[in-house]
Amino acid sequence: DLSVSWLGVNMENPLYNASGVMCRSREELDAVAASAAGAVVTKSCTLSPREGNPEPRYARAPHGSINSMGLPNAGYEYYLDYAKNYDHASGKPLFVSVSGMTLEENLTMLKAFRDADLPCLVELNLSCPNLPGKAQIGYDFAASSHVLSEVVKVYDKPFGVKLPPYFDPVHFAEMASVLNSFPSLKYVTCINSVGNGLVIDIDSESVVIKPKAGLGGLGGDYVLPTALANVREFSRLLDGKHVIGCGGIKSGREAFMHILAGATAVQVGTCLYEEGAGCFARIRDELAAIMEEKGYRTLADFRGKLLTM
Ligand code: DHB
Repeated sequence: DLSVSWLGVNMENPLYNASGVMCRSREELDAVAASAAGAVVTKSCTLSPREGNPEPRYARAPHGSINSMGLPNAGYEYYLDYAKNYDHASGKPLFVSVSGMTLEENLTMLKAFRDADLPCLVELNLSCPNLPGKAQIGYDFAASSHVLSEVVKVYDKPFGVKLPPYFDPVHFAEMASVLNSFPSLKYVTCINSVGNGLVIDIDSESVVIKPKAGLGGLGGDYVLPTALANVREFSRLLDGKHVIGCGGIKSGREAFMHILAGATAVQVGTCLYEEGAGCFARIRDELAAIMEEKGYRTLADFRGKLLTM
C-alpha cells in the first residue's frame, strides 16, 4: 500500500511532478494526471504570461540537468481556469505553484485563488534562481518572513512553500524558525534546483545553455544528497508541517531515501523531463518492490526512520 493522506489530500502513491516539469500547458498537466502519478502540480505562475529566457535553456548533463527557463508560463488566470475545470474527484489532487515577480503579484494571485475556493493547495515558490538580477527570496530570511506575513493576511487557507536548498545548519535553523511562526503554512517542498551551477561541454569548450552566460539550476544526481539533507533537517526542525521531497529521484531507491529522511510525498523533475510520464509507474513499482523486500507494508512503516550512528 503506497497511499498517503495529508492535509485532507489523498494520493494513491507519493509520486508527482516537480513544478516546472510537464506542467506548463493543459495538455502537459493532463498527461501527468493520466499517468501513474499520485498528484499534479502546475508550473509556477506569474500575473502575466511570460515567454521565459532565450533558448537553449535546458540541457542534459552527465549527472542530471541544468536549466534557466526564466519562468515561462501562461499567466495565473490560465492555471486558475485549469483548476476550476479540473476533476477534483479524480483521486489525483491538484497543487498550484505561484511565483509572482513581486510581493504584490503574489498577493493578487493568492487572492484570486482564495476567492475561487477550490480544493487545491498552493505551493508558493520562494526560490526561482533563474531571473537575471533577482535574488531568491528564500535566501533572505527577513524577506521570507515579510512575504509570509503579508501572504497570510490575504490567504487564509493552508498552503506550502517551495524552498531553495540550504547548506549550513545555521541556515536550516533560521529558516525553520521563520516558517514555524506561520501556523497556516502546512508544508514545505525541499528542494528547488541547486542554483547557478555551470555545466561545460569540453568538446565545444562552451557553456550548454544560453541565459546568464551558462549559469543555471542543477537537478538530478548532482543534487540528491543536498535534497536529502534538506528534507531530513526540515523534518526535524519544523513543528507539525509536512516536508515534500524533491531532488534526484529517478528510481524507487531515491524515493525510498527521501521518505526515510522524512518526506510525506516526493516529486520528480529531471527524470520526468528525460523519461516522460511513464517514469511514475516505473518508480512506483520499484518503490513497492523495495518495501516488499524489506517487509514494509505502508510508507508510514519507514517514513522519517533514518538511522544515525
Ligand atoms: C524557474 C526555475 C525555478 O527553479 C523556479 O522555482 C521557478 C521558475 C524557471 O526558470 O522557470
